[in-house]
Amino acid sequence: MESQTSLFPSLILIFCLTCTLLNSCYGATDDDRKVYIVYMGDLPKGKISASSIHTNILQEVVGSDGVDSKLHSYTKSFSGFVANLTSEEAQKLKGMEGVMSVFPNENKQLHTTRSWDFMGFPKNVNRTTFESDIIIGMFDTGIWPESESFNDQGFGPPPKRWRGICQESSNFTCNNKIIGARYYRSQGQLIGQDDFDSPRDSEGHGTHTASTAAGNLVSGASLLGLGLGTARGGVPSARIAVYKICWSRGCSDADILAAFDDAISDGVDIISLSVGGAPKDYFKDSIAIGAFHAMKNGILTSNSAGNSGPSPGSVSNASPWSLTVAATTSDRKFVTNVKLGNGELYEGISINTFDLKNKMFPIIYGGDAPTIGSDPSDSRLCLAYTIDKKLVEGKILLCDMALDGEQQLATGAVGTIMQDTAFPDVAFSYLLPASSLGLKKVSELKDYYNSSRTPTATIQKSIEGKDELAPYVATFSSRGPNRITRDILKPDLTAPGVDILAAWSEATTVTGDEGDTRIVPYNIVSGTSMSCPHATAAAAYVKSFHPTWSPAAIKSALMTTAYPISVDRNADAEFAYGAGQINPTRAINPGLIYDAGEIDYVDFLCGQGYTSEFLRLVTSENNSCPQTTKKLASHLNYPSFTLSSKSKSVRTHVFPRTVTNVGSPMSSYKAIVNAPAGLKIEVIPNVLSFKSLGQKKSFLVKVTRLETKMDHIIISGSFIWYDGVHQVRSPIIAQVYS
Ligand SMILES: *[C@@H]1O[C@H](CO)[C@@H](O)[C@H](O)[C@H]1NC(C)=O
Ligand SMILES: *[C@@H]1O[C@H](CO)[C@@H](O)[C@H](O)[C@H]1NC(C)=O
Ligand SMILES: *[C@@H]1O[C@H](CO)[C@@H](O)[C@H](O)[C@H]1NC(C)=O
Ligand SMILES: *[C@@H]1O[C@H](CO)[C@@H](O)[C@H](O)[C@H]1NC(C)=O
Ligand SMILES: *[C@@H]1O[C@H](CO)[C@@H](O)[C@H](O)[C@H]1NC(C)=O
Repeated sequence: MESQTSLFPSLILIFCLTCTLLNSCYGATDDDRKVYIVYMGDLPKGKISASSIHTNILQEVVGSDGVDSKLHSYTKSFSGFVANLTSEEAQKLKGMEGVMSVFPNENKQLHTTRSWDFMGFPKNVNRTTFESDIIIGMFDTGIWPESESFNDQGFGPPPKRWRGICQESSNFTCNNKIIGARYYRSQGQLIGQDDFDSPRDSEGHGTHTASTAAGNLVSGASLLGLGLGTARGGVPSARIAVYKICWSRGCSDADILAAFDDAISDGVDIISLSVGGAPKDYFKDSIAIGAFHAMKNGILTSNSAGNSGPSPGSVSNASPWSLTVAATTSDRKFVTNVKLGNGELYEGISINTFDLKNKMFPIIYGGDAPTIGSDPSDSRLCLAYTIDKKLVEGKILLCDMALDGEQQLATGAVGTIMQDTAFPDVAFSYLLPASSLGLKKVSELKDYYNSSRTPTATIQKSIEGKDELAPYVATFSSRGPNRITRDILKPDLTAPGVDILAAWSEATTVTGDEGDTRIVPYNIVSGTSMSCPHATAAAAYVKSFHPTWSPAAIKSALMTTAYPISVDRNADAEFAYGAGQINPTRAINPGLIYDAGEIDYVDFLCGQGYTSEFLRLVTSENNSCPQTTKKLASHLNYPSFTLSSKSKSVRTHVFPRTVTNVGSPMSSYKAIVNAPAGLKIEVIPNVLSFKSLGQKKSFLVKVTRLETKMDHIIISGSFIWYDGVHQVRSPIIAQVYS
């Protein structure tokens, strides 16, 4: 199995990041007052009011007029206050007893982990104190514990029920943020020379995902100035339990299962696993097996869908008891302009931290610089050993294909412009100044190259742009249909996973490639690995409001409140994004849930052909499959509906479902159907009336796909249970395949 990180991590060398970059961001303008947030963790115990504690602390620092500079006190779910302070006062407050953090109240348009704001989950959402009891098990490459994102200032001791351990080593210790850490290295899992024989992360991936899920608020975070803002996880108070299962050579099934075995008994609440392989039968897949046992113990597993899109059927981690997450863009994109000698400016895509200071360099096309014995049809792609260094040194190399930059750097090029039509929606980092352009722009550039006697160009440092079309599903994000169970829609939902800035390991560099010297505390990468921890955090957020909810209930809440993605550049629609983009603030109040427990999944597995004997071994309970009627996959109480068939003639299917009332005790929901041409949807009955919380009501959804002439079609509709307050939305997909 491989970790699903950025598609090709690249690398380079140039300048080292020092703290001066960050320090300068805090501003040295001491006389001006700015609005700061002083966060003080949990509510104080005993009779002392939080508000008076805030006033006292503030008075100690700013004197008796402290009361005036206090703008607001947080006294309901956690303790803290907002005040207008000089940077010197803010600094002093940071050192005060009881103060967890002090950070400026920023109001920038582009925030670092912009993804959370973009999806409508601002910093000031309501939070419960229970959030700090939520333990997220991160199964990944380990963690960089010194990152500010994992500073445990203000955190109390681990939740009492925590039974995990910290496998400390000379250089690795846990704290009250990273409450546990284990590492797994099964026999045969060799260590590369860069691997640490400890939970420490040498790759960056695990540090990135952990901080996306549960990192602290860290202001002034950026990648060498790019994406500057406040980095934060979705549940900044949650604890992290690290299970290092991936090494430089991959993540072994044995280690994955060992981690599940430990994590479940350690007492984690949610498992986040940005790892996957080719689709496999559920019980031949370590992740599906581990996730099944996690589910039995009330733990939801959040998985990445994979980076093998856009091919149909590429989705991995498709078991119905886990959450499968696709990746969408957010409205912030990184653009890298290429300026030509004739003054033309082309907007390309990449993450370029290098600054050529607008100096112009000659351009050379790879096709014009083959080594003796190489074919220009290879050298135009800038493949390794095809380029004549003597012709390229000191120039900008134009390539007809996107590469990771190592080849170009080896030729002595000062920069590279690449044609990239495969990934127009993702910005990659490279080892040298680089920008990738689409086909049309490259062909214009070639016209200039051919018509000018001394064609020159420069590649500018990246800037942030706005993508008005966002969100849409990234090209790389793996697509349904689910190859194991076609009638369970996968992926389940989507979350931001493109150009995500989060914490990074300082044992590696921006690209991790040999020759890169850019050691950074925060890095920008893309992948469903990055969207998965967003969904993990959203699940943890729901759990912090509803600690007793089952994994299926949490999943249902996330799915039925997701935003349908309106701008759809993908013909495969729901096979790309499932129920839509997660919306955590609505997910805490979903109205109705589609619940399911172990027994429901056992019935489902019986229908999939597993025998009673097999299931008894899996569940260690006396489960038996019904002798007569096998349950269809579409009968599982799932929040989405899939009807697939090979036949083109009319097809009708009835889906039984049961919802549980978690909204208002007395409520009445009406079914609102959205059926496109070619699909008929009937909900029976179409009104559900509840008299108490926890009450369950069953209904049928009758879906008829009309006759079609097409061999392959995907028709999608939806229906919503609506009580005037809650909208409980389910996608309905009908597919003809051959
Ligand atoms: C904070 O203080 C500055 C003066 O240093 C003032 O201009 C600003 O309006 C104050 N802000 C608030 C929100 O009170
Ligand atoms: C926070 O919760 C309160 C009380 O439940 C509610 O009135 C308020 O609208 C919520 N705020 C946000 C931002 O959701
Ligand atoms: C421990 O940290 C020191 C100093 O940062 C470093 O030189 C050493 O290589 C580290 N050892 C291990 C085993 O990571
Ligand atoms: C330049 O023009 C020549 C002649 O039309 C053509 O064969 C060649 O492919 C062009 N080079 C590029 C880089 O487009
Ligand atoms: C298991 O179930 C079967 C069939 O329901 C029953 O005959 C048997 O006694 C049960 N065994 C145990 C150990 O409960």
